[in-house]
Amino acid sequence: MFAVSPIKYLGGEISLPGDKSISHRIVILSSLAEGDSYAENFLISDDSLRTLEAFRKMGIEINMKKNNLKIKGKGLRGLEVPREPLYMGGSGTSARLILGILAGQKFKAILTGDDSLSQRPMKRVTLPLRKMGAKIDGPEDANFLPLTIEGGDLKPIKYNLPVASAQVKSAILLAGLYAQGKTEVIEPIISRDHTERLLKLFGVEVEKEGLVNRIWGGQKPRGIEFRIPGDISSAANFIVLATLVKKAHLLIRGVGLNPTRTGIIEVLQRMGAKIEIVVKKGEDIEPYGDIEVKNSELRGTLVKREEVPLLIDELPLLMVCGCFAEGVTRIEGVGELRFKETDRINSMVTNLQRLGADIDVERDTVVIKGNVPLRGNSVSSFSDHRTAMSMVVVGSVISGQTMLDDIKCINKSFPEFFTILAKIVKG
Ligand code: S3P
Repeated sequence: MFAVSPIKYLGGEISLPGDKSISHRIVILSSLAEGDSYAENFLISDDSLRTLEAFRKMGIEINMKKNNLKIKGKGLRGLEVPREPLYMGGSGTSARLILGILAGQKFKAILTGDDSLSQRPMKRVTLPLRKMGAKIDGPEDANFLPLTIEGGDLKPIKYNLPVASAQVKSAILLAGLYAQGKTEVIEPIISRDHTERLLKLFGVEVEKEGLVNRIWGGQKPRGIEFRIPGDISSAANFIVLATLVKKAHLLIRGVGLNPTRTGIIEVLQRMGAKIEIVVKKGEDIEPYGDIEVKNSELRGTLVKREEVPLLIDELPLLMVCGCFAEGVTRIEGVGELRFKETDRINSMVTNLQRLGADIDVERDTVVIKGNVPLRGNSVSSFSDHRTAMSMVVVGSVISGQTMLDDIKCINKSFPEFFTILAKIVKG
């Protein structure tokens, strides 16, 4: 049990470990590149290390000094047959993106994961990869890990994504590198575009026209040097805390500000949060900058379905914010939350109700009536890192003690969470 007590003041200046989505992709693309790549501020966390270990098992030499990586790329055709199954832990991004790469390899590989990941749907990726020609076997028609995959020369496809998922889009685009001709992925709603931006950084052309993404096979990625911006999803915990704690004033330096990830900032600003982006750089590849946040009153808002992919991982925190806003907050189109590390609609609604919140779900819309007084109680992480951090955030701004059953799961994305929090909490 971990006890969370209300905090009196929060302030100062912090910078954050690298973005998780970008960290995975840097390892993947550097491994497939010709020549060496250098990446600073790699996220050292359970999930991102799963991707790194998988490429080591496929013969890629990766040197890590603190959080800086040197990766010796072996080119598109340089991966070696892994001698044992590739263990993905609980990392959905590792599993889905690596499936895209394995689809293009002429060897057989086995992908395994922990209990949680083994219950998350993979058909969304294995179906299009099979259409491209990969042979994939696994439980329930290759919907669940463990999966066996054998790839080879792939056929390009034109694919309409049934779900707005950057992981699925990325898997197909990465497989597209191994297909002869043009692979086209059409999204229902814009989702995070790190794969497309980073492919460009590595010298691979990806054409984007609204919701349509095109890649031509055979293009060879080239080694790069890159500094990974701070993770905006990790920053969001502190942004919300600084918004809710009286008189708080926080500066977060070097945070990723990719427009397909900043939904949380836009929605909070609409709710009345005092968030300012003070410097913005890196617009050509991955924008980043400094964010200044001051305590403010919030008002309820409507979050539309189209906004959801732009803040998918921040929805638990947004539900917390809804509890402190004047009036009603409605968040539409949150169905995908059911397929994360846990069903995050259930984990958040259950926990917030236990704290006294007026929150309910109608189909895939979450409705919160704000400004109902909350009080500490026992809550659960549901073994999910984002639910756990949201509970620490809410427990820090309500009366009484909030008892959280597990904080270990936070290592999945943000092992430094408590160390950084301790730097800015006063009293
Ligand atoms: C991610 C995409 C999102 C997100 C996940 C990371 C990525 O998942 O929830 O944490 O790096 O592509 P979906 O694309 O499946 O929604």
